[in-house]
Amino acid sequence: MTARLIKGKDIAAEIRAEIGQGVKELMAASGITPGLVTILVGENPASQSYVRAKQQAAHELGFHSIQETVSGQISQEELLSLIDKYNKDEKIHGILVQLPLPGHIDENKVLYAIDPDKDVDGFHPVNVGRMVVGQPAFLPCTPYGVQQMLIRSGVKTDGAEVVVVGRSNIVGKPIANMLLQKAPGANATVTVCHTRTKDMASHTRRADILIVAAGVPNAVTGDMVKPGAVVIDVGVNETGRTPEGKRILVGDVDFKSVSEVASAITPVPGGVGPMTITMLMLNTLQSARRWAKPA
Ligand code: GUN
Repeated sequence: MTARLIKGKDIAAEIRAEIGQGVKELMAASGITPGLVTILVGENPASQSYVRAKQQAAHELGFHSIQETVSGQISQEELLSLIDKYNKDEKIHGILVQLPLPGHIDENKVLYAIDPDKDVDGFHPVNVGRMVVGQPAFLPCTPYGVQQMLIRSGVKTDGAEVVVVGRSNIVGKPIANMLLQKAPGANATVTVCHTRTKDMASHTRRADILIVAAGVPNAVTGDMVKPGAVVIDVGVNETGRTPEGKRILVGDVDFKSVSEVASAITPVPGGVGPMTITMLMLNTLQSARRWAKPA
């Protein structure tokens, strides 16, 4: 079998077109422009490039967008008061603090300082709790993107055996929770594997849908996959640079052997990656809609 490709790049473009339309409609109905602030602390090159991409996407969609770049030496108090400023700013509907933060800053204190109703990353425990109990919540962008890829490429999750490899707060735990909800695009039977799982292949081979977010290249190979399974590769691992200095990226899944067994697979790059920023934009639009019409 040669697996069909689930192209996140195409699905992300489709969602961005819908967001663009949504922005026009919101502005016509309420005069409100979705507002996003991205806060970058220090000079981590990967973080700089992610934040640049987020700002560019916001700009292209006609958002009111602000980039706050602050020194890596900023004190925790100063960072908290910057967040407070945007919590109170009526023109801002989404606040994103790029992670990781320098060691002298308590990441949880910073994330918890963001108004949960502007937490477009979906990392605040109020949003995590809302998600777990099935209330409307900001969903973290990467798992939200994975769920949309499944829905929009026609993969049935209802009653499916889903196996998630990885238990991070950013991907593994939230995607597992989202897919077990009693809701459309969910209703799955979910197993989560992690570094202490015994005989991981015995779990992955049962999966109708296998979601891999292990942070390790080749963590899943063809012999670990059930014939006909759908495989979503969330991994982004840099293995080197091209002579022009471009990053060479591979996922967590051995694409060659797995694509001979699976019925569908996401490529890296061009799979889950392009979805993450798109879902951040959708969360910001949804936030602006909520602020325009408080419940
Ligand atoms: N660093 C790596 N991924 C993310 C993300 O999704 N959000 C934020 N804020 N920082 C990150």
